[in-house]
Amino acid sequence: MDKLVIEGGSPLRGAVRISGAKNAALPILFASLLHSGKSTIRNLPRLADIRTTTMLLIELGAGVSTAEDRSVLIDGSTVHSVEASYDLVRRMRASVLVLGPLLARFGRARVSLPGGCAIGTRPVDQHLRVMEAMGATVEIKSGYIEASAPKGGLVGGRFVFDVVTVGGTENALMAAALARGTTHLENCAREPEICDLATALRSMGAQITGDGTSVIVIEGQEALGPMNHTVIADRIEAGTFMAAAALTHGDVLLTGARMEHLDAVVSKMARAGVEVRREGEGLRVRHHGELHAVDIDTQPYPGFPTDLQAQFMALMTRASGGSTISETVFENRFMHVPELSRMGADIRTRGNTAFVRGVPELHGASVMATDLRASATLVIAGLAAKGTTEVRRIYHLDRGYEAIEEKLAGLGAKVERRAQDD
Ligand code: EPZ
Repeated sequence: MDKLVIEGGSPLRGAVRISGAKNAALPILFASLLHSGKSTIRNLPRLADIRTTTMLLIELGAGVSTAEDRSVLIDGSTVHSVEASYDLVRRMRASVLVLGPLLARFGRARVSLPGGCAIGTRPVDQHLRVMEAMGATVEIKSGYIEASAPKGGLVGGRFVFDVVTVGGTENALMAAALARGTTHLENCAREPEICDLATALRSMGAQITGDGTSVIVIEGQEALGPMNHTVIADRIEAGTFMAAAALTHGDVLLTGARMEHLDAVVSKMARAGVEVRREGEGLRVRHHGELHAVDIDTQPYPGFPTDLQAQFMALMTRASGGSTISETVFENRFMHVPELSRMGADIRTRGNTAFVRGVPELHGASVMATDLRASATLVIAGLAAKGTTEVRRIYHLDRGYEAIEEKLAGLGAKVERRAQDD
């Protein structure tokens, strides 16, 4: 296992290329299963979760060849299995996104039920209910979801999601693309990653309208063709570098980042005194002087993303005054709080709300976190802290941030990856 050792205090300066979005790439890789031939996906980030997904595709029988230029060619003609094992699903919950494509193309799927995870219980009831609305029979047996479509395949239907769910909307989109007839989905998630999946599906011939709004209509097709798609830039990676640039009083160009995917974040950054503007093919982030305290509450898109809550909290630890941060999407997403406190932050929590009072200085410490975004937050805090910070167990980071230490070092940070001895 590795750790990152960070010597704080250097302002980040320069340009960094934002990688392809993990949370768009994962469903898009699974969507390639809807076609019985070859699909090409470009701009894939180099991440552990992408490797886990390709392992699952290979386990199902697909041919997968990855190229140096970050593209992958997937051959769906050799798929012979409809089972996603516990071993892979427990490593990455997003594996449950294989359910819709398998059920739609083969009429059957057996997918391990993901357990709870560090940030919440994260049920998948909506994924299952929407498959039932398309005529599927769904049973839970020995920890597995066993789903089968009616004779002749899934049928289009109408479904209103009880909660706004990104993964639930994605599974439904993929299944409905091959269902017979029209599917109306209401109370859908509106994240840019959903629109990117819809764009990828349209490249295969799917008929989808309304993605990016809460009502999506899909005209099911008898068959889909090859996918040809380039994944969008990762807005969460961009937001993470934005917070790091601001907290270190830096000046960074985020190449490839898109303003229209980050409106809620940029508006909070502006109120905190951080300048973010479009420049060339990306966004330029600058900050000097004092940070102002700003309140946030997380919401589904287009609200402030839960995946940037922790990073924004790191910023607020150094603001003048007090800010209130409410997490409304997941029930347990404050694991970074005790670790930030060990670095000198002044944070109290009550339920899903954190009260952050800015302090004049953070100091380096040995810290570790149990999820991806919390780990990134500790890295950001370490960049701004006085002295040395060791962020331990960084395998979480490797799931969602491509070469983070190289990208940060390229911006002038003193950061090194070392083997963790214990
Ligand atoms: C996606 O998770 C992202 N993961 C998460 O990214 C992100 O935090 C989350 O959306 C919210 O934006 C991927 O895209 C791979 P949800 P997902 O279904 O789809 C409840 C990261 O750090 N719910 O939108 O699993 C659920 O418990 C991560 O990259 C149900 O009750 O999230 C949660 O409270 C972690 N029943 C809320 O909805 C369901 O059937 C939103 O979850 C499904 C969800």
